[in-house]
Amino acid sequence: MFFKKKRQTELDLLHLPKHIGIIMDGNGRWAKKRGLPRSAGHSAGADALKKIITEANKIGVKYITVYTFSTENWKRPKEEVDYLMSLLLDYLRNAEKTLAGENVVIRAIGSRKELSREIQDQIVKTEEFTKNNTGIVMNIALNYGGREEITNAVKEICAEVAEGKTNAGDITDKTIDAHLYTKEQPDVDLLIRTSGEMRLSNFMLWQVSYAEMWFTDKLWPDFKPADLRRAIIDFQNRGRRFGGI
Ligand code: IPE
Ligand code: IPE
Ligand code: MG
Repeated sequence: MFFKKKRQTELDLLHLPKHIGIIMDGNGRWAKKRGLPRSAGHSAGADALKKIITEANKIGVKYITVYTFSTENWKRPKEEVDYLMSLLLDYLRNAEKTLAGENVVIRAIGSRKELSREIQDQIVKTEEFTKNNTGIVMNIALNYGGREEITNAVKEICAEVAEGKTNAGDITDKTIDAHLYTKEQPDVDLLIRTSGEMRLSNFMLWQVSYAEMWFTDKLWPDFKPADLRRAIIDFQNRGRRFGGI
């Protein structure tokens, strides 16, 4: 007779995912449902994010990457892009005070050169201000695309080969890891996407190769700390094999 392992219902603090990735989707639909402009959804989404970071830090998660603006999001109307950029600037400015007070290390990942001077400067300031904190590392994926990240890594490695610093034959997955925006960070263990969409949308293509995926129909502004805990408990109930048995 076989006994099925009993489902764990409480959060196990000793077996947390090391790195959580979140595709925060559904801000626009959240606003539309309320007859509000899309910007109101983005603003509510930023509020939801603050609470989730606080919770993840409290639980003891070490790394969290949140998708805030993709390399494809420039396709949106200029008005929306401008609003998102101003929200991000505010977020970075305020995070320096509020989240730094919570000991959060803030980093931006993605291509910076397309961003405004003001945002680029603020990123440097916020990263500098929080770099010695010892709490959760929060990667803000801003103008981030998984393909752009890998392409960029390939370019850097090719340059090293051309300069004779690296031997082409010695390139391994570790070499590629070391050229990603997330270098020195563990792979994503748990990937969360809200709003019912089940796709990656160019998010951390390399780092999610063995991530457990967790989807919810909830729209991002409705995502609560309790939902994060539920996602982690579900993660802890999965059997991860990494190709083994
Ligand atoms: C996610 O919400 C936030 C960003 C992509 C910046 P959306 O703006 O994609 O919301 P929906 O998918 O249109 O509802
Ligand atoms: C992914 O959401 C990007 C972010 C959450 C920042 P999108 O709403 O842009 O993705 P698609 O277009 O539905 O794939
Ligand atoms: Mg969307």
